[in-house]
Amino acid sequence: MQDEPVRVPEALAGILADAAALGFEMSCENRTGAMLATLAASKPAGRILELGTGAGAGAAWLLDGMSADARLISVEIDPRVQAVAVARLGADPRVSFESADVDGWLTDYDGEPFDLAFVDCLPGKFHRLDDVLALLRPGGLYVGDDLLPQPTWPAEHQERVDGFLDRLPRVAGLRATAMAWGSGLVVGARI
Ligand SMILES: C[S@@+](CC[C@H](N)C(=O)[O-])C[C@H]1O[C@@H](n2cnc3c(N)ncnc32)[C@H](O)[C@@H]1O
Repeated sequence: MQDEPVRVPEALAGILADAAALGFEMSCENRTGAMLATLAASKPAGRILELGTGAGAGAAWLLDGMSADARLISVEIDPRVQAVAVARLGADPRVSFESADVDGWLTDYDGEPFDLAFVDCLPGKFHRLDDVLALLRPGGLYVGDDLLPQPTWPAEHQERVDGFLDRLPRVAGLRATAMAWGSGLVVGARI
């Protein structure tokens, strides 16, 4: 079984080249991206949230799967890396890039709920999980990655991940599946 996607979003090569030039090494891998596109496609006219834009690889995949009337909000604390996403994807009227700390953003957000959240930074996964779940509609999807050891992890991170995976089956309001695939994923549905 060859599970690498055969087709990738048009903007991806430029995003990855710009990310490499910045020394940014945390873009999602193509198989994860392909799954994000599939899940985004399952939410026609959906409201989609990404926490941690990085350079925009995940956003490129999400946009690739989204319908013309779906919308993506993507939040990032580092304007230097997010600038790549803005330059490469910002002309797409379906996406809004917000420059903010997710911790503060989760406190301040008072807009409509979401149908899919791709949570790709510490807040929303290892803390503030309940706050992200509260923003999901029933049946909305929660996706997290980087749960298998990554070369970019600081020393104390394994303990954080172990605690998260241990708690996962008991998280109220979430029917989650951990997947030892790609960078290590969790896919859950808001119940
Ligand atoms: C794994 S990378 C995101 C990769 C991107 N989602 C993709 O699929 O290519 C994590 C990003 O989260 C950002 N980040 C970390 N802590 C954050 C915070 N508290 N608020 C907002 N962004 C944060 C980092 O700057 C980094 O760009």
